[in-house]
Order: sequence, then structure tokens, then C-alpha cells
Amino acid sequence: MTSSRTAERRIYALRDQINHHNYLYYVMDAPEIPDSEYDKLMRELEELEHKYPELVTRDSPTQRIGATPLAEFGEVRHEVPMLSLDNAFDEDEVLDFDRRVHERLGTNAQLDYTAEPKLDGLAISLVYEDGVLVRGATRGDGTMGEDVTQNIRTIASVPLRLLGNGFPALLETRGEIFMPKKGFEKLNAQAESRHEKIFINPRNAAAGSLRQLDARITASRPLEFFAYAWGQVRGGSLPARHSEVLERFRDWGLRTNPENRLVVGLEGCLQFYKQMASKRNRLPYQIDGVVYKVDRLDLQRELGYVARAPRWALAHKFPAEEAMTLLLAVEFQVGRTGALTPVARLQPVFVGGANISNATLHNMDEIERKDVHIGDTVIVRRAGDVIPEVVGVVLAKRPKNAQRVRLPCYCPECGSKVLRLDGEAVVRCSGGLYCPAQRKELIRHFASRRALNIEGLGEKLVEQLVDTGLVHTPADLFSLSVAQLAGLERMGDKSAQNLVNSIDHARNTTLARFLYALGIRDVGETTAGVLARHFGTLEALMAADETALMQVADVGPVVAASIAAFFKEPHNRQVISALRTAGVRWPEHSVAQQVSLGPLCGKIFVLTGALVHMTRDDAKASIQALGGKVSTSVSKKTDYVVVGEEPGTKLVEAQKLGIAQLDERAFERLLKQ
Ligand code: IVH
Repeated sequence: MTSSRTAERRIYALRDQINHHNYLYYVMDAPEIPDSEYDKLMRELEELEHKYPELVTRDSPTQRIGATPLAEFGEVRHEVPMLSLDNAFDEDEVLDFDRRVHERLGTNAQLDYTAEPKLDGLAISLVYEDGVLVRGATRGDGTMGEDVTQNIRTIASVPLRLLGNGFPALLETRGEIFMPKKGFEKLNAQAESRHEKIFINPRNAAAGSLRQLDARITASRPLEFFAYAWGQVRGGSLPARHSEVLERFRDWGLRTNPENRLVVGLEGCLQFYKQMASKRNRLPYQIDGVVYKVDRLDLQRELGYVARAPRWALAHKFPAEEAMTLLLAVEFQVGRTGALTPVARLQPVFVGGANISNATLHNMDEIERKDVHIGDTVIVRRAGDVIPEVVGVVLAKRPKNAQRVRLPCYCPECGSKVLRLDGEAVVRCSGGLYCPAQRKELIRHFASRRALNIEGLGEKLVEQLVDTGLVHTPADLFSLSVAQLAGLERMGDKSAQNLVNSIDHARNTTLARFLYALGIRDVGETTAGVLARHFGTLEALMAADETALMQVADVGPVVAASIAAFFKEPHNRQVISALRTAGVRWPEHSVAQQVSLGPLCGKIFVLTGALVHMTRDDAKASIQALGGKVSTSVSKKTDYVVVGEEPGTKLVEAQKLGIAQLDERAFERLLKQ
């Protein structure tokens, strides 16, 4: 039996250990134990506190979440106002700042600055009394903020109790709450899958997460904290330099940014700016610039404040990565795989260091989720080398005549029908064999080793053939002459002749290879093989509808839809027919042998009259798929005559020859056997 005294001692020991490991993890970024060990300590503490509820204190690491939702946030007055910073957008403005500081201080000597990344989150004030976190508040208007203590307590990198000793009895530390990029992406992916509203950027996500009346929601959001300033300090003192205060903060368990540097003079500042600019995309959180702070606190005091900003600090901003502009139109671009990407045509805007007039809208689902209308004011983002994107809409600015974005019915490149498969965000052009946007990719695939295996037709050559207009569709390959090829870059007479030979050679192929070569979406080598075996002939496959296609092993509704759409598109049929005219062939008989195991193997059918449940093509395909043959006239060799409505003279002939007759029901039964 644990006595209450030993339990109390153990509880304190556990809390110390847990706080120490929190410190190693969040502040030092150097954990000493695996998460599982940490969880064990937490569990033990929870169990003991459960047994001895009188020993639970507000600063226990178990007490981060738990409070009941608030009706509203209380107001908080900042005894020391929370200021903002003056901004500089270029080097000249930094130079002016440094000059002004020197003039005011009456010195020519180089000054030390603390240079810090400017975090793109929201400012927060944390009050510690005797080392215990008692209040967390937003900046608000700088004088009055909101009491978000409950929510702040849920952020693991905010210590509930300071470590070590020597901290002032009252310490108001200030810093930034932010959401790391990864956490932001995860949160949005979750929102997306639940069809909820997505956040425009990590800053909005952090602000939205912190301003939740139910702390359990905040607890579920990946928020983090870095300390970089302070407000009220009583009952103790801080060191004489900003950089030293930050070091002390770290000792007390307050997380500070490891990127912070003490730099010398203007040169040092600008160098830091450049370093951070190039490191920016690799940082796990968003920054929108850097901050320079005169390091000596006595000099800071001497410099003082103007209006709402200190004279001793400056934010040197990176070019904005986000800007607002008008969405003039939405056009659809066809990619090399036939996917249609909606592209926003924008009123040109300067963002991320360049003028932007186009941005991606990704796909129709994104357009719907972001509720993008033509005529909207949109927020465009251009981060580094990433393609600019429309991240959101300013709904308040939507004009009355804003228009919904409509998906085109036909491919803007080739006029083939556009398809949007159920459950897929991507919309595709169905004219794979014909569409110029897909040409290079298709021809490269068509010629590849496992398809028609045209030796010597590499990627570079395909590019040239398409760019010079010699080849539009795969069928054009078969009419290329040595003279035409020899005129191309890095093509001698000999290699031209070799290529013509291997193209000629490729004419003889198999149905499976041919089907694979067509580049039908979702039809890889295996499916092509299965289709070839099942249908036996290209005609039978082309005549099959989705129901017939789904009879094939491994072909589900998605693949069936892709195949049916492909063959339905007249442009594709044209190219297939051109390929056959060009002499592309495969041994039909060997294919027939492959279906010889079908239940209708060797049986000859004749169709007469109209069937109610299927078209004649369907009936034909079904017979062939099961190994049977369809003939157009009745003879002694005919095994069955399938009799539909209003049969013709074939029925009379069949009766004369005593050939078995099947009505539609009997025929269907036979097919199902
Ligand atoms: S110091 C009196 N340091 O920038 C100076 N601010 O534009 C108080 N910020 O409201 C601010 N990173 O939210 C400081 N390293 C940093 C910062 C930083 C981001 C934010 C902060 C502030 C805003 C001012």
C-alpha cells in the first residue's frame, strides 16, 4: 500500500522528470528518452493523481486539458503595451534604421544586434507567477487582449512551470504561437477529407486554433511557441542584453528560436537576412522576414518608442508571398496525361518577388471547396520556386455578377469529350490517342519496349518528331521515310534507315501489346493481357459496353469506364483505324486459340431480329468472349440462331435446316452458364 507521503514524493519526482524531458524535447531539441518512456511517466503520474486527487495542482503536466468550454473569452489589460514593429522592405530602409539608431545614441561605433527570424504566427503574452503559468493572452489592440489561458495551457512547448531558479517572482514573457508547416498540411488534409473549410495559411490556422472556446479543439491542433520578448517583470531582474535574456529564458524552460544570432552592425544584419532568406523554405515553420533588435537593454531604453513601435527594433520583411488580386477568368490546361488543370488568369500582381498573372487552382474539387467564382478577389501565394496558387477567396469582396467556374465538356486542346470519373477530383480528356497535349507522352509510351517496342525511338526523337509536325498520332510513325528522318538532329542516313526498319518490324505485334500501347487510362500490361484473352479480337473489345467489360476478371467499374470512354471517343477510333490501315497487325488465330477454352468454343451463332436487353454488338462481343463465333448467314455449320423481335429470313432458313433456335431469354441463360 502506497502511503500518501510516498505518493506525494513520487508525484513531485515524476513532475520534475516530465518537465525536464519536456525541456529537453522542446527547448533543447535533444530528447533523452523515447516517447514510450515519456508516456509511461505520464501514465504513472496520472494514476497517482487519480488516486490522490488532493495532490493535483494546476501546474501538473497532466492538467493541460480538461477545463470546460468557455462562453466567451475574458478581457485582459496589458500593463506594458504589446507593441508592433516598424517594417523595412529593402536594404536602404535597414540602412536608414541603423543610421537613425546611431544618430540618436550619438555614436559611430558598430552596434550589436540580436537577429531573429520573424515568425508568421500571432503574438502572445504569458504571465508566470512564482514560476507558474497563470495567464495567457492575445495581443488584441496592444492594450486590451483576450484571455486564452485555457488554450495556451494545451500547447506542449509552453511550460506550465518554469525550470531552475532565479526567475523574477512575476515574469511576463512574450512570443509567438505558430503552426508548423507539416502540422498545417495535415490539419488541412483532415479538413479536406471531412469536407470542412480549409485554412488559407498556417498563420490563420494558428489564430483560428487559439481562438477556440473549447480548449479540447486547441489541444488537437499542432501549435508551438517561441519566446522572444517580455513585458512586466517584478521581484527580480533580467540580464543587461536581449541575447542574454533569451539565454536565461531557455534555462527557465522557455523555448527560444535556435536560429537567433547575435550579429555585429548593419553588415551582420544583412548577412543574417540573406542566410534566412535562403534557408526559409527548409525551415519547419513559416517566417515572413527577420527582426533586428539593439542588443543592449540600456541602449534600448535610451532609444525608446515612437507611436506603437520601438526605435530599437526593425522587421526586415521578405517579399510578400501572398497578395490579393482579381480573378479574371479560369482556363483549363491539358497536361501530358490528359488531366485538365484549371488555371486562374489574374490581374497581374507582384508577389513572392515576381509579377504573377496565372496561378493554379489544382482541380475542380479545390475550386468547389474554396468556392472560387470568376470576378472574385482572391489570395494568391507564390512561395519560392513553387507554382503560384490561389489559396482562397475574399468573400466579402465578391461582386454580384461573379460567375461559377464551369467545367468544359470538350477538351480545349483537341475537342474530345472530357470525363470526370466518380470519386476522382481530376478531370481528363478522353482523346488520348489524338490530343496534342498528350501526344509526346503517348508516342513515347506507344514505342516503349513493353508496348510496340520500336527500337531507337527515344524521348528526344519523339520530341523532335512532334515539334517538327512530322508525327501527330502514333499512326503517323508508320509513314515516316528515311529522307524525313535523316533531316532531324543527330540523325544520319544509317540510323534513319534503322529506325524505319524497326518501325516496320513493330507492325507485327500481339493484341495485348497493342492494347497496352494505346495508353488507355488504367490499362497496364496485365489488364491489357486479360482483355486480349477475354475478348479475343479488338472489334469485340471495342464493341463491349461497361457491363460487358466488368465481366472481365480484375476489371472494376473505374477501369471499365476508362476503357469504354476511350473507345467511344471518335478521335481514338480514327487513330486505331489508321494504325490498322498502316499495317499494324497481330495473329488473330492464336488469340482465338486462347479463348478456345471458353464454354461456347467452336460454336457458330447467327443473330436475327432485335434483342431487347442488349445491342447486337453486345451480343456479338459476349459470344466471342466465351469462345464462340458469329456469322452473318445461316448454313449447315450454324449451331444456334438467336431470334429477336421481328426476325428476318435467317429464321426461315434456320427452320429449313433444322438449326437450334434461341429466344433472348434462352440466349441470356446460355451466356450465363
Ligand atoms: S518582437 C516590441 N520578435 O511581429 C517588439 N516580434 O510586426 C515586439 N514577430 O506582433 C515584437 N517574430 O507577432 C518580435 N522574433 C520576433 C518576432 C516578432 C514575429 C511578430 C509579433 C509582432 C509582430 C510585429
